[in-house]
Amino acid sequence: MNIQMKSKDDYRPILIDLGCGNKKYQSSVYKVIGIDLSDDSDADLYISAFDLPLEDESVDYAYSRHFIEHFDIENLEKLFSGIFRVLSQGSTFEIIVPHVSCISAFQDPTHKSYFTRNTFYKLQYLGFKVTETRFHWFRKPYKGRFPIVVKFVDYMLNRFLFLERFSPCIGGIYEIRCLMEKNNSMLDKSFTPGKNLNY
Ligand SMILES: C[S@@+](CC[C@H](N)C(=O)[O-])C[C@H]1O[C@@H](n2cnc3c(N)ncnc32)[C@H](O)[C@@H]1O
Repeated sequence: MNIQMKSKDDYRPILIDLGCGNKKYQSSVYKVIGIDLSDDSDADLYISAFDLPLEDESVDYAYSRHFIEHFDIENLEKLFSGIFRVLSQGSTFEIIVPHVSCISAFQDPTHKSYFTRNTFYKLQYLGFKVTETRFHWFRKPYKGRFPIVVKFVDYMLNRFLFLERFSPCIGGIYEIRCLMEKNNSMLDKSFTPGKNLNY
């Protein structure tokens, strides 16, 4: 049975935060639905993100921070397939993951996928078009003593994209943020979103 997310007295667009943990997306613009398996999380739905009990095209924005790196490509295809189904046409899936150059991408033994900027372009066959990428040299919001240096390095990394190659020389890029827009024309016809639902 599908959950009804829109209510009569709340007309805000729906945002789902997949694997929200204890840092659920904060917004007054969206009605935020946190999704997580863990009882210790701030989730509104304690379910697997692989099995979304939501109507087709009922979601206006999907968000996941430090979540999808926990899955291999086979499971990423299943995850994206479910998100493709519930997102409305043209809506955005915002993804934040550790960058492959950062030690934190490897220190967690449960990580199974590693990301560069180009990785997101290679995932477009799942029916999403990359509309924006952004490198964060340090975790946002930066609370250290050198905000001007961090701002400058962030600027350089995002202005001169070839610098990504040399990011290990500056201790790695902490994370990458990517906006992907649901777009049918990006679909590889050999891959059908929805076919692997109920994983
Ligand atoms: C590294 S935490 C990230 C939490 C939060 N997004 C953040 O930025 O701090 C990953 C979260 O994903 C949740 N999780 C793992 N597998 C999941 C699944 N299949 N469905 C939903 N949540 C899942 C875990 O319980 C955990 O809270």
